[in-house]
Amino acid sequence: MFAERIKNLNSSFIRDILAVTQQPDIISFAGGLPDPALFPAGQLQEAGERMRQRLGNALYQYGETAGVATLREQIAANLSDANTGPENLLVTTGSQQGLDLVVRCLVDPGERVVVEGPTYLGALQVLRANQAQLLSIASDADGPDLDALETLLKEQPIRCFYAVPDFHNPTGACYSLRRRQRLLALAEMYDFWILEDSPYSALRYRGESLPSLHSLAPQRVIQFGSFSKIIAPALRLGWINSARPVIKVVEKLKQAADLHSSGYDQQLVLQFLLDGCLQPHLERLREIYGERLDAMASALERELGGALSFHKPQGGMFIWATLKRQESTLELFRSAIAEGVAFVPGEAFYVNGEQENSMRLNFSNSSIGMIEAGVTRLAGLINVRLHQTCTAG
Ligand SMILES: Cc1ncc(COP(=O)(O)O)c(C=O)c1O
Repeated sequence: MFAERIKNLNSSFIRDILAVTQQPDIISFAGGLPDPALFPAGQLQEAGERMRQRLGNALYQYGETAGVATLREQIAANLSDANTGPENLLVTTGSQQGLDLVVRCLVDPGERVVVEGPTYLGALQVLRANQAQLLSIASDADGPDLDALETLLKEQPIRCFYAVPDFHNPTGACYSLRRRQRLLALAEMYDFWILEDSPYSALRYRGESLPSLHSLAPQRVIQFGSFSKIIAPALRLGWINSARPVIKVVEKLKQAADLHSSGYDQQLVLQFLLDGCLQPHLERLREIYGERLDAMASALERELGGALSFHKPQGGMFIWATLKRQESTLELFRSAIAEGVAFVPGEAFYVNGEQENSMRLNFSNSSIGMIEAGVTRLAGLINVRLHQTCTAG
């Protein structure tokens, strides 16, 4: 009844469990959500009034497929990437659409795409829907295991590598400079594209910023950016940053898909940027999310240091924690819901559900008090189970 490509399409596990985790008595570390209390609602309202005065009825007209030119100029200025001008940018309906359009332009059914295990679920959905053949390699706190990638490349050609170099979803990892350089060297040597997904790169709380893959190799890397995590996800605004030949092709496909992303939302974000609101807002997010990260890391160390291990990230929204013994976090998840705390079981983030004993914990959408209470609930559960198996054993 349906086309071949639909067979590979699963609904996202996270979307499915979010409904359960949103019950009011549950402390949820599950969603990858920004804190709604920190959305710049007042400033967006003022920006909205100014934009209506500035544009009148023109605000409601059709626009260019590539996106509002002045918005692209502003994005280019904010990126401070010497290789990016407005002509290299295409505004998309969230970075998720950018990823889908680019995969559709680059990857034929059955072509190989390498991802990290674990990786962003939404990328797995896009790649599966477009019938890519998925291969995965392990990663650690400094990024993907490039020896494993090179072994794989010696055996078979690949079309793309999907990367989240800054504050990875779900691991929080930030690729070291050395890994960035080696990944780019491999892409050059074995001739594949790198899809650099960067929705979290502005959310750095500690340490020095590293150059994006795109800034180091603009002909090899297609980068995806987003306003979802730094202004508001409901705006559904992101961008593709790439060399002109790619932009030109993707633009045609976008025209076929939706003509252009909402002109109203683009103008709203443009006004917010022109009003100089982004930098102070980012500083506020960095301060508050950074404190929440510290609170979650300390609570985990204090209450669960014996039972699980994790690497404290320098930014983003997630801590990836692994139980020291082999126990399915999917099973643990069911008991955790009963105890009033939620996380995402790690196996959802793997191509074949490989690793069972990890979990993704979001810290951006809970106050410090909630974080401490949630970790205490989790610790009660995990430590009791640990004790039970010890005494049973
Ligand atoms: C790594 C990654 N890429 C892309 C997205 C999608 O972002 P957007 O809201 O811009 O579509 C997310 C959202 O969680 C993400 O974590």
